[in-house]
Amino acid sequence: MSKIIKINKNSPEVSKIKLAAEVIKKGGLVAFPTETVYGLGADALNEKAVKKIFKVKGRPADDPIIVHVADRKELKRLAEEIPEEAEELIERFWPGPLTLVLKKTERVPKVTTGGLETVAVRMPDNAIALSLIKEAGTPIAAPSANLFGKPSPTSAKHVEHDLGGKVDLIIDGGSTRIGVESTVLDVTSSPPVLLRPGGVTLEELREVVGEILLHPAVKGRASRVARAPGMKYRHYAPKAKLILVEGKPERVRRKIQQLLKKFKSPGVITTNEKHSYNGEVVFIGSEAKEIARNLFKVFREFDERGVDVILAESISETGLGLAVMNRLKKAAYKIIRA
Ligand code: TXA
Ligand code: MG
Repeated sequence: MSKIIKINKNSPEVSKIKLAAEVIKKGGLVAFPTETVYGLGADALNEKAVKKIFKVKGRPADDPIIVHVADRKELKRLAEEIPEEAEELIERFWPGPLTLVLKKTERVPKVTTGGLETVAVRMPDNAIALSLIKEAGTPIAAPSANLFGKPSPTSAKHVEHDLGGKVDLIIDGGSTRIGVESTVLDVTSSPPVLLRPGGVTLEELREVVGEILLHPAVKGRASRVARAPGMKYRHYAPKAKLILVEGKPERVRRKIQQLLKKFKSPGVITTNEKHSYNGEVVFIGSEAKEIARNLFKVFREFDERGVDVILAESISETGLGLAVMNRLKKAAYKIIRA
């Protein structure tokens, strides 16, 4: 089994951070918390170490990995050019759940970027992550610390479930605050293109840069959209088949009630406390923020309960709702309009 150490997320113990940083420096793998989800970290500039990430996750080699930094100086060494719009976004949202895709420098190995000439960089808003990066003295490449295709981990327990025994160290820093991954924004073109909705909302981005284009994958399903890096695979999926039901709340409720009769052991994800259904029902929250925080945990809980089908109510694609709906659509086996 992998070594697990508990670290205080408000004031990380220096000796423990040093221990974890040693593992990174030596080319090992450390799973660590961020404000979004847990990451599976390795020295971003060490090709051999990054290759291990792909192997352990079962991730296709052409799926690029986000590089995490603790200061802006480091960013300058990773990105060839930082457009004015990017500077403004960094000023407003870093540290925080915003990943920027930029033209990479020679220093960044192609293994890390999945063969691309661009690099995705973010500065996480989590004291453990920041002190780990600083102490390691190198940017840390980290995808979400789940097995490929599975829901991202929002606690150390989830990481252990997927990767226990396969990584050198797991840092337990408690449950993550946001629960869905960072927003990925391509700033190599103007206007910037939103590749993945996440912790920073589209509305917040537009307050800073005005016009932002949406990649078709943002509101679509993985299988239906054109190939784009990291977007062509089904993601975040629980073992159970997830059926997403879209439409007006009352119609959705009735449709789910009908569908429930068709399955042997179904589960329901509801966002309305007043909706009552037969079977395993989880009220996931009524606000997008709460729903985002609980989403992946609920997927995993349903798997543990052994349900074969999950019927999920849809929510409005505004604010964090855009990220929530994006994950639901990507995880969905089927999308139904009520
Ligand atoms: O919140 C997060 O972003 C978490 C934590 C650990 O930081 N990380 C995360 O990494 O979600 P991952 O690998 O699960 O997702 C990274 C996404 C993928 O969709 C990938 O395709 C995209 O970022 N990406 C990375 N580099 C890119 C690049 N150069 N161009 C376009 N997309 C890129
Ligand atoms: Mg991931």
